[in-house]
Amino acid sequence: MSIAFIDLNAQRRRIGPRMTEAMMAVVESGAFIMGPPVRTFEAGLAAFGKAKHALSCANGTDAIVLPLMAWGIGPGDAVFCPSFTFASTAEVVPWTGASPVFVDIDPVTYNMDPAALDRAIAEVVAKGELTPKVVIAVDLFGQPADYPRISEICRRHGLKLIADSAQGFGCTLNGQQPLDWADITTTSFYPAKPLGCYGDGGAVLVNDDALAERIDSLRVHGKVVASDLAGQTFDHDPKYLSMRIGLNSRLDTIQAAVLIEKLAIFADEIAQRNRVAARYNAALKPHVSRVPEVIPGGVSTWAQYTIEHEDRDGLVQHLRAQGVPTAVYYPVPLHRQPAYEMYPVGGNGLPVTDAASRTVVSLPMHPYLDEATQDRIIAAVASFG
Ligand SMILES: Cc1ncc(COP(=O)(O)O)c(C=O)c1O
Repeated sequence: MSIAFIDLNAQRRRIGPRMTEAMMAVVESGAFIMGPPVRTFEAGLAAFGKAKHALSCANGTDAIVLPLMAWGIGPGDAVFCPSFTFASTAEVVPWTGASPVFVDIDPVTYNMDPAALDRAIAEVVAKGELTPKVVIAVDLFGQPADYPRISEICRRHGLKLIADSAQGFGCTLNGQQPLDWADITTTSFYPAKPLGCYGDGGAVLVNDDALAERIDSLRVHGKVVASDLAGQTFDHDPKYLSMRIGLNSRLDTIQAAVLIEKLAIFADEIAQRNRVAARYNAALKPHVSRVPEVIPGGVSTWAQYTIEHEDRDGLVQHLRAQGVPTAVYYPVPLHRQPAYEMYPVGGNGLPVTDAASRTVVSLPMHPYLDEATQDRIIAAVASFG
């Protein structure tokens, strides 16, 4: 039997009938945009993420640009982020006219290295061309960034902090959420994500009422919100009053209905992913250069299970021949890609990022990976010279 890299059908076998029913209920209701399931899902998501507000949006990329827009980030501003991440993390920064500044990672967790961040900020300040404004930390492969140290740096320099938890939503550090340190957490419901829907979707989690209200406006074309109306009277329905330039970035009601069902089993799925990861770690350690290590006190959602091997490309070919699918996240870091190579990097380049991009490879990972299949994968890795 062929091995799936991510087996979405296994989850469907578990809750498929309930999801079909939930989706059909939306179809019957006709409330395709901002229907009641959207609010129900947002309330559940806020409770799960221990946030005051959860606001859904069209995808995890918009989720990152929304706070940048809400804070008025623009030309002349510097936004610090890793280069070892998916394009979305950095892509949104030039949308606002600001400049990404790429920061190196920790060689063990692959997340932003706080010392490298500190140095990159000092360099930008010394150069005087850009004004440091925001840090985007990424919970890469599912594990939390070093929020205690990163947030301390942000406080010291007066910078906002975004937790890009597209891969890590549900992760914790010392029992706390990224939002306990960050100004805002963003996530993606892209189908392959640990909490994915049946299309595109995203959300922000935020505790600050004013920021939440502004993002609520921005996600619907800059619509008027309660604080815009305070003390004002209108001789027309203010519904179509645009107070600011916004986006069309709503989560479809059908996707919210799917996500309500998936959120109900999400904690159990995170536990299952941790079971799979622990089993991989124990068996693979003697056979590869590095098995993943989670930051002390951290719990990962294991969006990816990523090992390192000095002959990564040889291992990929060997596993393919044995019917084991793999993926490389990320073979070319952003600061080396045509769209991003003109933007500044902290320090004299990003040596840890470059090294990781040559040796990382991700193995099949999902909550429904049974032990027999996992043993086949482990044996295939172990049999590589
Ligand atoms: C780290 C990271 N940030 C942001 C995103 C963007 O999410 P989306 O694809 O929903 O726009 C993704 C995933 O695709 C991601 O992996």
